[in-house]
Amino acid sequence: MDYQNILNAIYVEIANNKQRGHVATYIPELSKVDPSKFGISLQCVNGDYFSVGDTQDGISIQSISKIFALSLALRLIGEEVWQRVDVEPSGDPFNSLIQLEHENGIPRNPCINAGAIVIADILMSELDDPKDVILSFVRKLAGNDAIQFNEKVAQSEADCGFRNAALANFLKSFGNLHNPVEKVLDLYFHMCAIEMNCQDLSKAFLVYANHGELITPKECILTRTQAKRINAIMQTCGFYDEAGEFAFRVGLAGKSGVGGAIAAIQPKQFSVTVWSPGLNAKGNSVIGMKALELLTTKTGISIF
Ligand code: DON
Repeated sequence: MDYQNILNAIYVEIANNKQRGHVATYIPELSKVDPSKFGISLQCVNGDYFSVGDTQDGISIQSISKIFALSLALRLIGEEVWQRVDVEPSGDPFNSLIQLEHENGIPRNPCINAGAIVIADILMSELDDPKDVILSFVRKLAGNDAIQFNEKVAQSEADCGFRNAALANFLKSFGNLHNPVEKVLDLYFHMCAIEMNCQDLSKAFLVYANHGELITPKECILTRTQAKRINAIMQTCGFYDEAGEFAFRVGLAGKSGVGGAIAAIQPKQFSVTVWSPGLNAKGNSVIGMKALELLTTKTGISIF
């Protein structure tokens, strides 16, 4: 498969696309990002790497971090995670409070904010320095020790994170948050504020395409079952109330973030990251979804 030619063709086709969505403004620091940025990185399980566009720019990974946090929680407490977070698609926006009341404080899944806040709480209970551990984990998966938190983004979200504060307090009222609300939110905001480029993200996601095995250095990060479960959750919940649309148009398991990146995998073949900061009304990158739809159409490779 000539992936480089295909990425180049997608880049040219996308360049003419006038509908690019709107950069997230509810986290003020994210509104400063140049909306014309666009990059794709594709990392194959066999070691081949292909890229086009702005793949070296730092991106706020936002909700993509929820997959790394879930991976760590599964490594730490295994199947016990599922006593505190469910595995059903929500069909609601990522920051919705509605289901949480009906479902007695058990979030629908680890990809919505309520679920990721519970996962952050698990990490906080299990680890002495959870921020340090999550950063080291992401650096290891990506093979890049320079990856950092963007403190300005973390602070910007903390300053306006009223909905997340509401969710965390609500969880606490149901007994599904064991640590102090402010501490859990600080961890959650920091994991969302991890800054990585497209290349880092595609390398870090290779582990999900490879049954939980890191390729370099060769190491088992997740059991085969854990990797299967995470991919299933990405498939059904990774795009919130647009998970069906992503499966329908793209056909890969993936996760989006309001920084405009999407990381996705084709099991046993590749991981791919697309970045374009303009979002649709559901908080997913407009051009990112389009580019991945073109990738699976042009290659004829998808899960389905
Ligand atoms: O909690 C928030 O609202 C953000 N830190 C993350 C949201 C996000 O990325 C949703 N994904 N599309």
